[in-house]
Amino acid sequence: MRKSDFGTDFHWGVSVAAPQIEGAHNLDGKGPSIWDTFSARRGKIFKNQHPQIACDFYNRYPEDIALMQQMGIPNFRFSIAWSRILPNGTGTVNQKGLDFYKQLIDSLLSAGIEPWLTLYHWDLPQALEDKGGWTKREVLHWFEEYVNVVASQLTGRGIQNWMVLNEPMVFTGAGYFLGYHAPGKRGCSNFVPAMLHAALCTGLGEKILRSHQTDIRIGSTYSCSFITPKSNSEADLKAVKRADALLNRLYIEPAMGLGFPLEELEMLRPVEKYMRAEDESNLKANLDFIGVQNYTREVAEACWYVPYLKARLVNAKKRGVPHTEMQWEIYPSALLEMLKKFAAYNPDIPLIVTENGAAFPDKLDKDNTIIDHERLQYLETHIAEVLKAKQSGIKVDGYFVWTLMDNFEWAEGYRPRFGLVYVDFETQKRIVKSSGHWYASFLDENVQVLSELENC
Ligand code: FCB
Repeated sequence: MRKSDFGTDFHWGVSVAAPQIEGAHNLDGKGPSIWDTFSARRGKIFKNQHPQIACDFYNRYPEDIALMQQMGIPNFRFSIAWSRILPNGTGTVNQKGLDFYKQLIDSLLSAGIEPWLTLYHWDLPQALEDKGGWTKREVLHWFEEYVNVVASQLTGRGIQNWMVLNEPMVFTGAGYFLGYHAPGKRGCSNFVPAMLHAALCTGLGEKILRSHQTDIRIGSTYSCSFITPKSNSEADLKAVKRADALLNRLYIEPAMGLGFPLEELEMLRPVEKYMRAEDESNLKANLDFIGVQNYTREVAEACWYVPYLKARLVNAKKRGVPHTEMQWEIYPSALLEMLKKFAAYNPDIPLIVTENGAAFPDKLDKDNTIIDHERLQYLETHIAEVLKAKQSGIKVDGYFVWTLMDNFEWAEGYRPRFGLVYVDFETQKRIVKSSGHWYASFLDENVQVLSELENC
């Protein structure tokens, strides 16, 4: 497998997110986000860690850009911290925050790296959460104001590719239903309105961006897992249908104009009482591409005592299958299956794998190297599935590794390391792992990359 097999128009890159790398949590006028507040609550994050410094990208971005340039990474997907631009969520604009993103974008472009911008990667300003956050319909106005500020300042600077939301299922599910992500709210009464508002913001964000600039590509990104049944029993097959509707279909289908998949998810039917007449059509988003974010396969079984869903996922460790440090099963063909599933909605809309990657417990060798064969193999085998998808005629146009460098992995803190680049969080030293060297040589057409799998 070579880079050239994917064609010259294929977008190769890495993804990051503001709250996971930037740090500088209160510098230059930034207001607190829900992750700043949540991580200050004891017991919420692994070892009570916090994103206050993270990778200090806010101060170190020139060196990180230089590193990406050395690695030959042509595309960089990052997000904007809403509370850096609007410290209170709405109202006063923080010019210094805008300047940071302007400089970041300009530096990327002058380094020959294409910026891919995500508007929202989970860090709602705390001031808005204090007013009810995603559960309140006002969030549509707050989001509208935020997108207008970003678009009026940052369109026309050479960003071709924009994404509205990162994985709405995860930030509403983990943040407003299960409560293990910020802001730590639970239950259907929080989740259902948050779900509706996040879904509406996809179409809203898309329309606002387009009203500022027409010759850009606008997408949004979706988490997904290939789900198979534990057994062939009818109960397990039905459990898969429900889990699939919740984890894979809930947000992409309204964006495609198909509405929420309520036949499989009766417990979400109360959404109808929050909906206004205009919502049905406003849920649709005219996406120029769909960001597919897949890491694993899940195995589901029927389970009567799980509230609402009556299904549960059987942990990979319990199943005794190969898994990453997140206990996510390593199952490369899941990515191909998800590309097939998303392509089926509309084969003409290009798919971009905007995240895929793996955490393993990296060991720093005596000579300061990190030999991470497992990650390298993970990436190589998953990229091979993308090629299969492409060769089968699916319009898949890009692949972004999660992630450039080890960073703040939400409730898991700094324990899981997903990076191509190792970060020593004490000294902020970066060390390119062997997976990073492999990706760099894969991206360099002039180097004949020996498959690591053949080497082993
Ligand atoms: C995705 C998130 C991303 C990162 C990876 C591991 O769900 O979008 O920020 O945490 O998982």
